[in-house]
Formats: sequence, structure tokens, C-alpha cells
Amino acid sequence: MAPFRNLPDATVLTDPDALEPYRHDESHVLGVLPLAVVRPRGPAALKELVRLAKAEGFALVPRGAGTGKAGGCLPTGQRAVVVDFSAWPGELRVSPQDLSLSAPASALLRDVKAAAAAQGFFYPPDPNSWESCALGGTLATNAGGPNACKYGMTRHWVLSVEALLEDGEIHTFGISSVKANAGPALGQLLIGSEGIFGFIVGATLRLTPMPREYTTLLLPVKRWQDLLDLPGRLCGAGYLPSAFEFFDPAVLSELRAHGPEEARRLPGEAMAILEFDERGCTSEPFLEGLLDLLGPVAEGLEVASDERQRQGIWAVRRMTSAFLKERHPKKVSEDIVVPRSRLGEFFAGLERLGIPSVSYGHLGDGNLHVNLLAAGETEPALLERQLMDLFRLSMSLGGTLSGEHGIGLAKRDAFLALSDPGQIQTLRAIKQALDPQGIFNPGKVI
Ligand code: LAC
Ligand code: ZN
Repeated sequence: MAPFRNLPDATVLTDPDALEPYRHDESHVLGVLPLAVVRPRGPAALKELVRLAKAEGFALVPRGAGTGKAGGCLPTGQRAVVVDFSAWPGELRVSPQDLSLSAPASALLRDVKAAAAAQGFFYPPDPNSWESCALGGTLATNAGGPNACKYGMTRHWVLSVEALLEDGEIHTFGISSVKANAGPALGQLLIGSEGIFGFIVGATLRLTPMPREYTTLLLPVKRWQDLLDLPGRLCGAGYLPSAFEFFDPAVLSELRAHGPEEARRLPGEAMAILEFDERGCTSEPFLEGLLDLLGPVAEGLEVASDERQRQGIWAVRRMTSAFLKERHPKKVSEDIVVPRSRLGEFFAGLERLGIPSVSYGHLGDGNLHVNLLAAGETEPALLERQLMDLFRLSMSLGGTLSGEHGIGLAKRDAFLALSDPGQIQTLRAIKQALDPQGIFNPGKVI
């Protein structure tokens, strides 16, 4: 591929066999074969890539570890070059005094969390792919996870970002402090923008002291409906779990019948996993208060008695997505949100609409993984109607069509069709101002 031959400080792949994996991520959508994959190792490569993209009219598509769930890193259109940040240089540096950690986009989230933990600090974002995803991808998609219930999303843990803009240079937005108010927060515009405004190459993250105790509870319920008002009731009474996950009856039975050993013994019609991590959460008074609040629903409650049991519970939850995918390879998994006060209405609506689906996920913050297991066998127009009905239902209850995975390629059409036109117009105006030639990840989000 002639234009890339002299790219400084980069590895270039052009062999079709080597390019093929770049058509995939962890979503159900498929990209086209890119012209090339470039792995930059420094700013000179990015500067030259931007120059070439503008001169030759090809698109640049950013990629971290390829674990995204919305196709945001997949090449589309006729001429796209994937910019794979896995070789981007930089070290993880913790500043205990500043409660911050700086890291390159290429760092694995696992290593970021471990570097913080090694010094007694906690970096909360924990998408299900946390052991294999790259920090850059979590920033570009504003990744969530179970801990978002208490700690919020990736964007709430970013102090500053370094990003490649369309002038070919890397710019820094923000400082290493939570207090930075000199003008609007442009860094926040880049987080969750899925690379349509520029590419994030590194960030300084906010840390908090590591929790010292955990109470992890397995809460089977006899009646699935009994789970649905619990998140709102707990929060309303001042109990904020650091995670509140659930399996609906269908997912629970499938796990029980075909899942790993730990899942086979799980009782109940449906199940929640609750975790608390605040100081005092292992004390008798805390648990008694919680039990009082839960009332009869707490009948089958099990408390993890040690770290091994805690990890066992989490292992079942963490493998659920891969487990369902293995059993239903063509399933479509969504990540809609409804306010936690409206979970009951949501599931009643889902039943009324007759959308054939099973659900699990983050009940505590209303971020539900509604899975259409038969998507592969469903006529495409019908599937699209079912998905649009699902999104409309979520939005009619004050929710949205994506809580944590983003829009990418997978939900772009729905996002465009269902969003306030003023929002799309604003996003397009910003895109035009920041990327007038449309080189950054075109065909995604808007
Ligand atoms: C999960 C992924 C699918 O929560 O977001 O399992
Ligand atoms: Zn999730």
C-alpha cells in the first residue's frame, strides 16, 4: 500500500488475512475490510496519517483492544485505515498526592486498576471486558460496568485527556485536579465521542481510596417481580450499593441448566447480586438495617462469607454475556436504560409489546442487557421493529437506548431516528467544526 510505506514510527499491516480480524469487535455487527491497519508508536505517525487521510481522502478508524459492543471501532465505507493504538507508548504513573493516575490509551484497564490498587487506590470503572479492554476504548466509549451504580461512568473518573485533533497534533484538555473551571470541559466532549471528534491517546484519571470492606449478597427471589422495586427502595432509604446486578427468570434457568458449576446451585425464580463497599458495611447494624428494609424478600439471602465466595459469585455474573453468546451466537444484546424508579413499568411494557427477550445486567442503575436470543432466525424487518419498540419503550419512560456500550455502528440508525433533531444538529455542527473533512471515524454515532 504505497501511501503508508514511509509512515514514520509505525507498524503497517496490509495483508488481507491480517486485516480480517479488524472487521470484528464484540458486537453483532461487521465492518468492511480496511485498506490497512496502522499501529502508531508516536506522534509523528499520527501527524503523517492525518495529513495523508486529508490528502488522499481516506477515513481513520480508532481501535483499542476491539472489545467494544457497538461496532464503534469497525471500518465502514470504501476507504478506511484502522489506527490500532495497542503499541502507543507510555507508562502508568500514580500520583498519590494528586489522587491521580496517568496512562496511555494502550494500557489495559486491568493494569490501570492494578497500578492504582498497588498503592491503595481504586479506579472504579469496570466494564465486563475489564481484563482485556484497553483504557483508550473505555474513554472513547465512556464505558460503564456494575460499579457505575455507585461510582458513575468512566467520564466521572477522568481529569484530563490527550487527544489527536484534525490539525495532526496532540492536545491536552484538563489538568490533574478535580477543580478546573477555565471554560467548558472540552475533554468531556471527547470522552464517549467514539472517536468522531478526535482520538484519545492518553489520560489522567481520578482515583479514590480503595474500599476496605465488602458485603456481597446473593438474593434469590421467589417472584421475579419482587426484585423490580428494590433498587429504588434501597436508594430511597439511603443504601447505595456499589453494584446491584440481576438475572431474570430465563437467564437464571439457562445458567442453572447449562452454566458453570457455581451457577447450577443457584435457587429462586430470579436473582440479584448486591454489593456494598462503604466503611461499616460488614457490621451487624448495617446488615440488620438492610434486612429490615428488604423485608420478606430477603428470605433466601446468602452473604458471601469470604473473598473466595465473593469471587465465585462475580465469576458467574462476569461470564453471563459470553455464556449466552456461546449458546446463541446470533443473539442481539442491547443495553438500554430506564430510571430505577420505573423498572416495573419497563418490564410490564416489554411483555405487553411481546418482544421475545431475556434480560440481565445492572438493575441498580436501570441499565438492562435485553437480549434477543432468536435474532438470527428473526426476519430482519421484524427484528428491527422489535428493537425500535424496545428503544421507544425505554425512552418513553425517561431512559435511553444505550447506557454504557455507546452508539457506534450498531445503534446509529436508531439513534438518528429517535433522538431530538436538535441534538443531532448540534452534534453535526460540532463534528463539522472539529473535523471539517470528516476523516475521524465517519459513519459512527451521527
Ligand atoms: C455486561 C456487558 C455485556 O454487563 O456489558 O455483561
Ligand atoms: Zn453491562
